[in-house]
Amino acid sequence: MPVTRYSCFKRERKVIKDRTVSSGMELQKTKKGRLFFEAAKGKIKILHDDFLTTDLIDENSVDLIVTSPPYNVDIHYGSFKDDIPYEKYLEFTEKWLGKAYSLMKPDGRMCLNIPLDKSKGRKGAGFQSVYADVVNIAKKVGWKYFSTIIWNEGNISRRTAWGSWLSASAPYVIAPVEVVIIFYKEKWQKTNKGVSDITREEFMEWTNGLWTFSGESKKKVGHPAPFPVELPKRCIKLFSFVGDTVLDPFLGSGSTLIACALLNRKGIGVEIDENYCDLAKQRLIKEAKVTQKKLWGD
Ligand SMILES: C[S@@+](CC[C@H](N)C(=O)[O-])C[C@H]1O[C@@H](n2cnc3c(N)ncnc32)[C@H](O)[C@@H]1O
Repeated sequence: MPVTRYSCFKRERKVIKDRTVSSGMELQKTKKGRLFFEAAKGKIKILHDDFLTTDLIDENSVDLIVTSPPYNVDIHYGSFKDDIPYEKYLEFTEKWLGKAYSLMKPDGRMCLNIPLDKSKGRKGAGFQSVYADVVNIAKKVGWKYFSTIIWNEGNISRRTAWGSWLSASAPYVIAPVEVVIIFYKEKWQKTNKGVSDITREEFMEWTNGLWTFSGESKKKVGHPAPFPVELPKRCIKLFSFVGDTVLDPFLGSGSTLIACALLNRKGIGVEIDENYCDLAKQRLIKEAKVTQKKLWGD
């Protein structure tokens, strides 16, 4: 099983009324977006919405995006099977990257965690250069490329697909790593002065673009594709100032918002699945000790 962590599309199971949108590749209906949870005096927000269509985030308002988008690796996920044509996946990628671009400040940055390659999925189309394709699409919609961090999460299960064993017939070559691609909107240099909270040791270690730390347990977190809080924590401390606004358009179990709360950044997370909104909320209360504010839906 070379690629294991990603499986993030889910068809909404509830009956829904307000509008019909194209989220990812499948046309699906979704509720009108809403503020699901707010804490830390409005500094931390979970939006239950489709990122492609949400109008709950202001344009030119975000300093940093840290995210791991849905991926398409043929894993059954609730009622949704995330096995769609690769071309459709790239169309979805272009849409969300374009939307993300419009929300950024001119000196805004994005840390995008994806696998390097795709070696699983639809028969005959399993092998794809995801990293190369996503970089090209991001540049097409306006993002500027800065650099790439290789994340070695030590997932040795990715090394168990050999293809033709001891034969040149059709061997597999798989790098058991993920990447964090760094983009920016217009200028890399931050426009305003701000306070950094990174230590000397962290700066020296993390500016070496080969990161080694373990992935997160799906079972422990209760989500099929979480990244560890360590990943957004590093990105946030390296690339944003204290008090900056950080967005995760695909919040999942809430890891990015936990890092925001612990590091005193404003955090906005968008999640299409209501159960995951609730999971993120519970994790925030437990792991970041944020104070709950009662909202509609509680
Ligand atoms: C790879 S997972 C993110 C996991 C997250 N980094 C964590 O640590 O838990 C992607 C998430 O995006 C959500 N998602 C898929 N399509 C979406 C959309 N159009 N808008 C918002 N969220 C979406 C999925 O439900 C899934 O939880």
